[in-house]
Amino acid sequence: MSQVTELQQRALAEIEASGDLRALDELRVRYLGKKGEVTAQLKALGAMEPEQRKAFGQAVNALRDRLNQAISERRAALEAQALKQKLLSERVDVTLPGRGEHRGGLHPVTMAMERAIAIFTKLGFDVATGPEVEDDHYNFEALNFPPHHPARAMHDTFYFGDGRLLRTHTSPVQIRVMERGEPPFRIIAPGKVFRSDSDQTHTPMFNQIEGLLIGEGVSMADLKGVLHTFVNAFFERSLAMRFRPSYFPFTEPSAEVDIGWEKTGGEPGWLEILGCGMVHPNVLRACGVDPEQNTGYAFGMGVERLAMLRYGVSDIRQFFENDLEFLRQFN
Ligand code: PHE
Repeated sequence: MSQVTELQQRALAEIEASGDLRALDELRVRYLGKKGEVTAQLKALGAMEPEQRKAFGQAVNALRDRLNQAISERRAALEAQALKQKLLSERVDVTLPGRGEHRGGLHPVTMAMERAIAIFTKLGFDVATGPEVEDDHYNFEALNFPPHHPARAMHDTFYFGDGRLLRTHTSPVQIRVMERGEPPFRIIAPGKVFRSDSDQTHTPMFNQIEGLLIGEGVSMADLKGVLHTFVNAFFERSLAMRFRPSYFPFTEPSAEVDIGWEKTGGEPGWLEILGCGMVHPNVLRACGVDPEQNTGYAFGMGVERLAMLRYGVSDIRQFFENDLEFLRQFN
């Protein structure tokens, strides 16, 4: 009997001291499992005198019940403690200030480009593209620049050693489009162009949007109509526009287009925004288009130039300095 008491004291003390659920389960097995100490006591009953067996049996059963109860109480306590720990460690401090959100934005030149493309698309033009690395044929020859023509010198071309070059304008896309298909053609060609030039209004890389419309009976009046519609839509106001005679080898007649624009003092003035003209018969012929059957116009405008006017930027180089203070103004 004293053994039972001793066993109970020891077991209860160990259960109370168990630090986690695994240790507790080991104790359960050690005392109450098939080979446990309490189970061994029950097995010993068989060898006892009936008188002794009754009293001892009751004591061991009581011990077993007592230990079972102590174990489940301890388990409940350990589980509650574990839950509390978990809640503490996973606690989120909802009062902490947020990290903030920095939204990106489109580059102003991209915005001007997308705006112009959207307007021409609504007018029925499809978007065409061509390579930035061109050769003499597409950039000059097929556009009616004879080999030693002085107009080539105006282009400040970047040449590669093998005779290829970085296109100086988007006009070669006219040739590529006409070569590939049959009239009518109605495309715009937006993209990068390159000239060895740098100052307040020039950068070695800039963007152009070329336009080309070829079909039967297309006239210069159509060109004027489309361009005037475009500038009014792009700048969201009714602008004066004038055609000034000019020269490009690939158009005849050729013109430069100015829009009415207030000078910095508020005085009325004119600003050149693009070059255009009726596509030269030589160019049409070089692309397999019969100039007796089809006529048409082409134009080319600088996208940075449009962006400078629309957003009031006075130095084109600011677009390419990656100054976030500058760029964030356009978001
Ligand atoms: N390609 C000319 C330039 O870059 C612009 C232009 C395009 C002029 C189409 C006439 C027709 O200066």
